[in-house]
Amino acid sequence: MRRKIVAGNWKMNTTVAEGETLVKELLELVEESDTAAEVIVCPPFTHLDTIGRMVRANYDGKQYIQLGAQNCAGQPSGAFTGEVSALMLKSLSCKYVIIGHSERREYFGETGSSLFQKLILVIQNGMTPIFCVGEKLKDREEKREYEIVGDQIKEVLYQLKGADMEKVIIAYEPVWAIGTGRTATSEQAEEMHAFIRKIVSDKFGKLSQQIPILYGGSCKPSNAAELFSKSNVDGGLIGGASLSSEDFFRIIKSF
Ligand code: PGA
Repeated sequence: MRRKIVAGNWKMNTTVAEGETLVKELLELVEESDTAAEVIVCPPFTHLDTIGRMVRANYDGKQYIQLGAQNCAGQPSGAFTGEVSALMLKSLSCKYVIIGHSERREYFGETGSSLFQKLILVIQNGMTPIFCVGEKLKDREEKREYEIVGDQIKEVLYQLKGADMEKVIIAYEPVWAIGTGRTATSEQAEEMHAFIRKIVSDKFGKLSQQIPILYGGSCKPSNAAELFSKSNVDGGLIGGASLSSEDFFRIIKSF
């Protein structure tokens, strides 16, 4: 059985105080439930220390919420003003780092080779990368979605050794569904997730069976159960709906 994971990507939202409130509410909900999913929150860098302390303080034999970051530098350290290294994230007890989100690719020019450097640094520091792939609307209209997503996987993940690939989580996020309210149908998601698993399998063999593949893009309480019911959909990377403790919890409970 593959892991079930629901991760919240807060993007550039909330003050630290608002983030604290959100996590306090979420901890109360998650602690009292018997959810099958692993829960991760990825707040902005400025919130990681505070939120990290909160989620660790509630440890009672189980840590109910794990901490993730939204990005990291592609260099280990040095004169890179404004950047945050993987080692710094590890020192804040981050366990996960989102790598290659489409907003990073689109607005910050991130491409295959820089993403590979980030991925390696995250893994070397003992954390788990959540590696994002996804096609744009134009790609899908031109029926190139499989080619685009396949290339995104090959150009980065194919460079990894099997022992490193084992640590990776993949998130399929069609760009046309992110923040648009327009969700992929569960059939579209399942088809692409099965394709991604096949591409991973072509290089890494049966290891592909254990890699969690999350869906992201306007996933919300009303469609999460349907998406998560598909055999290759192992959870979600949630943007907008992760900013409401109630909505995020309803998504977590959708397994
Ligand atoms: P959304 O964002 O849920 O707001 O569409 C998902 C993401 O970008 O990770």
